[in-house]
Amino acid sequence: MSEVLKEKIKLKKAKICVIGLGYVGLPLAVEYAIKGYNVHGIDTDITKIKLIHQKKNYIKDVVNKDFLFAINNKLFTASEKYDKLGEQDIIFICVPTPVNENKTPDISCIMSATEEIYKRAKKHCMVILKSTTFPGTTEECVMPVLEKRGWKVGKDFHLAFSPERVDPGNKTYNTSNTPVVVGGVTKKCLEAATLVLQDVASKVHQVSSPKAAEMSKLLENIFRSVNIALVNEMARLCDRMGNVNIWEVIEAAATKPFGFMPFYPGPGIGGHCIQIDPYYLDWRAKKYDFHTKFVELAAESNEEMPFYVRDMVIRELAFAGIKTNDANVLILGTTFKKDVEDSRNSPAIKIIELLYKEGITNINFHDPYMRNIRLYDKIFRVQELNEKLLKDADITVIVTDHSSYDYEWIVDFSKRVIDTRNATKKIKNREKIVLLGAWAHRLPS
Ligand SMILES: NC(=O)c1ccc[n+]([C@@H]2O[C@H](COP(=O)([O-])OP(=O)(O)OC[C@H]3O[C@@H](n4cnc5c(N)ncnc54)[C@H](O)[C@@H]3O)[C@@H](O)[C@H]2O)c1
Repeated sequence: MSEVLKEKIKLKKAKICVIGLGYVGLPLAVEYAIKGYNVHGIDTDITKIKLIHQKKNYIKDVVNKDFLFAINNKLFTASEKYDKLGEQDIIFICVPTPVNENKTPDISCIMSATEEIYKRAKKHCMVILKSTTFPGTTEECVMPVLEKRGWKVGKDFHLAFSPERVDPGNKTYNTSNTPVVVGGVTKKCLEAATLVLQDVASKVHQVSSPKAAEMSKLLENIFRSVNIALVNEMARLCDRMGNVNIWEVIEAAATKPFGFMPFYPGPGIGGHCIQIDPYYLDWRAKKYDFHTKFVELAAESNEEMPFYVRDMVIRELAFAGIKTNDANVLILGTTFKKDVEDSRNSPAIKIIELLYKEGITNINFHDPYMRNIRLYDKIFRVQELNEKLLKDADITVIVTDHSSYDYEWIVDFSKRVIDTRNATKKIKNREKIVLLGAWAHRLPS
């Protein structure tokens, strides 16, 4: 790493650029800005740029005071254009890494950001990829593009991978108090990246290569995917057995103070990480004639859950003698996770689609964070949550258990409730409530 850049970082004079200002990029940009760095954000989504220019914070987890401090003190600027890229010393890539229709990785956003860096970045800059991706992306996909100018990594520019660990909605851990992992292409890259990262992270854990860092991120997320799949499978088994409550089982197992960590069943996994990352690993493994059967099985088991919830609704309707065509179903909570606004890959949306395909067209939803859901040519608009909405529904399905809901009141005014999150656990009178994993309790034993 050049002495000049090292000195610039130490004096917080290094110019930082964050490409992609979403759930990962905006908190990172603001974190560096409040530390005193000059941060420039780039996002191709003009709506986000306009909001920043209007001083409107669009990510709930970003502290508004910090956001305004960064903007008002001109420490954070943003643009949809790449024209200021050439001035930057440190460039973070925080763009989406989705899968395509066939569940294969789509790293086109990383590659288009990389092309812009290749065209405009200055010599001796540092590039840190933060987007979750398959092992090998940094060195096999990003590095060759950056070297197209004849530059040599570790000498003319620095390159590292440092996965993001932000957990939206988490009240305890945020960017500044979560350790980060980093792997550099060369020792100098690692040294440079560590120096930059330690300014905003509580601890920087170095690994020997970007590949190890990329793999560690996938392990973290797939660990969750596999464990959730296990409890989801057990929930379905408990349902079939008819007289074992999975939630009680987990609570009991969790009293073991070692060797067990509770995971909970649910209507399916959404968001941009746990649902997608297994496919990144699985796809890359095939290059090595390796089938990550465990990982695949977990993804498959988790993907079954919205279908299982659909079946619970249909069984409950049949049990009540209501035809699907006549049914009125209310879905509560449609973002992918409790208390977050993110609805990407939300299981609630999948459940609505599956119910719709079964002929249930009278579906209403409520979510404090969503306005409407578009499905085929139909738009479902958020409803006001009131007694009438609850009373009119044949079934109220709790899909995402936002803390703002009054579950006692919801159960009181609903005809029947399917609770996919055990959100009603404190309610004594369980007559109207069916828990996920316990539908068969309805039947005589
Ligand atoms: N959201 C999370 O909780 C989380 C946690 C850890 C890791 N990650 C990973 O971080 C990455 C980013 O996720 P996110 O949730 O912040 O996504 P996001 O969709 O919220 O934000 C990404 C932003 O990048 C912008 N963008 C796309 N292509 C661009 C380009 N070529 N140039 C400039 N901007 C571009 C998009 O407009 C969007 O605003 C993904 O790889 C994700 O898997 C996300």
